[in-house]
Amino acid sequence: MTDPAAFIAGLPKAELHVHIEGTLEPELMVALARRNNVALPYADVDAVRAAYSFGNLQDFLDLYYQGMNVLQQEQDYYDLAMAYLRRAAEQNVLHAEIFFDPQGHTDRGIPFRTVIDGLWAAMKDAERSYGLTTSLILSFLRHLDEAAAERTLDEAMPWRERFIGVGLDSSEKGHPPSKFRRVFARARSLGLKAVAHAGEEGPPGYVREALDLLQVQRIDHGNRALEDDALVARLAQEQMPLTVCPLSNLRLCVVPDMTQHPLRRMLQAGLVATVNSDDPAYFGGYMTENFAAVQQALGLTRDEIVTLAGNSFRAAFLDEAAKQRHLAALAAYAAAAI
Ligand code: ADE
Ligand code: ZN
Repeated sequence: MTDPAAFIAGLPKAELHVHIEGTLEPELMVALARRNNVALPYADVDAVRAAYSFGNLQDFLDLYYQGMNVLQQEQDYYDLAMAYLRRAAEQNVLHAEIFFDPQGHTDRGIPFRTVIDGLWAAMKDAERSYGLTTSLILSFLRHLDEAAAERTLDEAMPWRERFIGVGLDSSEKGHPPSKFRRVFARARSLGLKAVAHAGEEGPPGYVREALDLLQVQRIDHGNRALEDDALVARLAQEQMPLTVCPLSNLRLCVVPDMTQHPLRRMLQAGLVATVNSDDPAYFGGYMTENFAAVQQALGLTRDEIVTLAGNSFRAAFLDEAAKQRHLAALAAYAAAAI
C-alpha cells in the first residue's frame, strides 16, 4: 500500500474515547502548576515524562488524578481542550466525543460551572477555527459510590444541553457496572446516551452487566470480552461498538506486546472495533500514533484501516446525514490513495 503512515495521517476519522484530563501534556501541566501556584512532585517536564511507567490501570490513575490538580481556573480547562482539539484536527479527526470526569474536579472544590464553561468555550472555538465537531460525555468515577454519581448528575442538570451522554471510568476491578444501575437508568430517562468502560481489566461478566444492566450503546475497551465466545457472538450480532485504545492497552499492560493486540481478531470476529487514544498525553500518542502503532505491529491492511475509520463514524453519536457525509469523505480518500 501507499506509505501506511501517510495514509493513516490523512485518514478522515472520529475519536470516540478520549479523556480530556488525559490530554494534559507535561509541558502544560508544568505551566499550569506555575500559573496556579500548585506544587508538583517533579523537578521539570522530563521528570514528569519519566514517571509515566505503569504496571496496571491503578498505577496510571494515581498519576492521572494527581496531574489534574493543576486544573483550577476556567482558562485552564479552555487551554487543555483547545490544545487537544488543535492536535485532533491536525490529525484529520472530523468528530470527537470527549469524556470529562467532573468528580475529579468538584471533589477538589472546583465548581462544575468552571469545568464545563472552559471546556465548552474551547469546543465552540475549535469547531469554528478547525472545522471539526465535538461532543461531551460526562463520566462517573466508579471507585466512588452511586450516591456520588447521582449528586454529580444533579449538579450537571443546569448544563444538560452541553453533554450527550454518560460514561463510567476509573478503577474497574471490584467496581462492576451493577453498582451504577440506577443512575444510568435515570440518565437514559433524561435522553442521555450511555457508554461504560468494561473488560479493560475487569472480566467478561462486566461487559455483560454493562450491556444488560446499564444498557450501554458502546463498550469502552472491551478487550476481555474475547475470553467469552458467546459474548463475542452477541457483540457481533448486536453490532455493539468497542472503543479500543491500542497504546493505552500497551502502556497499562492489558497486552504484553503490541503484536499480541486483539484488534485484528476483533475485526475478524465481526466486531465493530474502533481505534482511539484514551489518555494520549500519558500513553505516548494521539489518534494517528495509535493507528500507526497497531498497523505496524499487526500488519493491518489498508482495507482494515478503512474499516476501523468507517466504524468510528458508524459508532459515533451523530445523526445519519453526518455519518453518511463522513463515510463518503472516507471512501473518496481511500479511492484517491494510490
Ligand atoms: N480514566 C482515564 N483513563 C482511563 C482508563 N483507561 N480506564 C479507566 N478509567 C480511565
Ligand atoms: Zn478510557
